[in-house]
Amino acid sequence: MTTIAGLDIGTTKVCCLAVQVQPDQPPQVVGVGVSPCRGLKQGQVVDMEQTVQAIQKAVQEAQAMGDIAIHEVFVGVTGAHIETVPRQAEIAITRPDHEVTEEDLERLRSFIQQVHLPPDRELLHVLLRQYTLDGQSGILNPLGMSATHIRAEGILITGGLTFLQNIRRCVERAGLQVKSLVLEPYASGLAVLNPQEREVGVALIDIGGGTTDVAIFAEGNLVYTGVVPLGGMNVTRDIYLMFRLSSIEEAENLKQKFGCALAERVPETEVVTYREMGTHQERRVPRRLLTEVIEERMREILEKALEEIERSGLLDRLTGGIVLTGGGACLPCTAELGRQVLGPLPVRIGAPQSHLVGLSPAHQHPTYATAAGLALYGYECLDTYEHPAIFTRLWERFVRKIKSFLKRNR
Ligand SMILES: Nc1ncnc2c1ncn2[C@@H]1O[C@H](COP(=O)(O)OP(=O)(O)OP(=O)(O)O)[C@@H](O)[C@H]1O
Ligand SMILES: [Mg+2]
Repeated sequence: MTTIAGLDIGTTKVCCLAVQVQPDQPPQVVGVGVSPCRGLKQGQVVDMEQTVQAIQKAVQEAQAMGDIAIHEVFVGVTGAHIETVPRQAEIAITRPDHEVTEEDLERLRSFIQQVHLPPDRELLHVLLRQYTLDGQSGILNPLGMSATHIRAEGILITGGLTFLQNIRRCVERAGLQVKSLVLEPYASGLAVLNPQEREVGVALIDIGGGTTDVAIFAEGNLVYTGVVPLGGMNVTRDIYLMFRLSSIEEAENLKQKFGCALAERVPETEVVTYREMGTHQERRVPRRLLTEVIEERMREILEKALEEIERSGLLDRLTGGIVLTGGGACLPCTAELGRQVLGPLPVRIGAPQSHLVGLSPAHQHPTYATAAGLALYGYECLDTYEHPAIFTRLWERFVRKIKSFLKRNR
């Protein structure tokens, strides 16, 4: 039995999620560990010691829950240092029968990847999007087809070397090996999007604590990614400052207990109480006022995410709509606010659930989207790297499972 672990080192918490895989079985969640952490700011390590300790704690918790040993992890990375570079390459098919083989795709892939990166950049992903066979474009899986020339289009995702090195160092100091660094919104997409959405075009907005990641998927794969340097912690900080609360924790508590992303949904008569900074005296404030502060910041976050989507030039390709995830999407009415800001596109909240067996209801929560996706990414890497068909294969495996289950129970 193989154990695969995802490690999401976020701005507010570290989460380790481990799955076990048996031949021809979907991945089964066996351990989840979470530890609060303030060692990262917007994807950048700012306190190594704290981060190492939080990683150790989260991993120990996951190990204890599943009675398993975790030695290596798939680690999420994000931040403004991430860059996307479009690439394409073409090769001739030299076999006499002109059949496209795995070797051709591998060759194409290595051509795409042959790019001179500046010394301060590191390649994270090579994502092939679609192929063109002798002028016929839009081919998703050319294996076995015939052509004299094949062209692939895709993107390279790179990260800033020092940012990535520091994350790697934290994980290694915690006694673990980094199996792979994975772009966080790519991982979140694996956990919360369904294959139809990815096929027709969908934007994922992962509202974390410190950053909001935007990822656009089309024709089955990731095609664009961007970051907004704002998240749920900005909402909390606004509450803390606006009402002069005694602590950030109290602001977080007020937000989670009484918060709402749309102020108009809160009755004007409701009142909340809190402790004031300095005097620690109890104060009363209309709940509507609290939610107005929240709505203003949430609106700004969504508007900035929309600007990122517009920058991609893919707004009119999002037939699958917009999926909001991450802990910041947990405030009541976030989807409704999303519909107001993001126009006529369908908007839903995405949480990890259907792709993993055994995920407890407590962990079927947008906060765990990245950790769940990292484990799914690791599962997919068992037999291959990223490939245009990555999501399709996940889906095919899932369909095969369902079919064999139905056959057995007929
Ligand atoms: N039930 C809830 N209601 C409102 N907000 C919530 C709730 N649960 C979590 N949050 C908010 O979600 C944010 C954390 O989200 P998440 O766990 O996705 O972030 P992270 O992964 O630690 O950070 P990042 O992705 O930015 O590095 C916090 O700001 C927190 O206030
Ligand atoms: Mg996150």
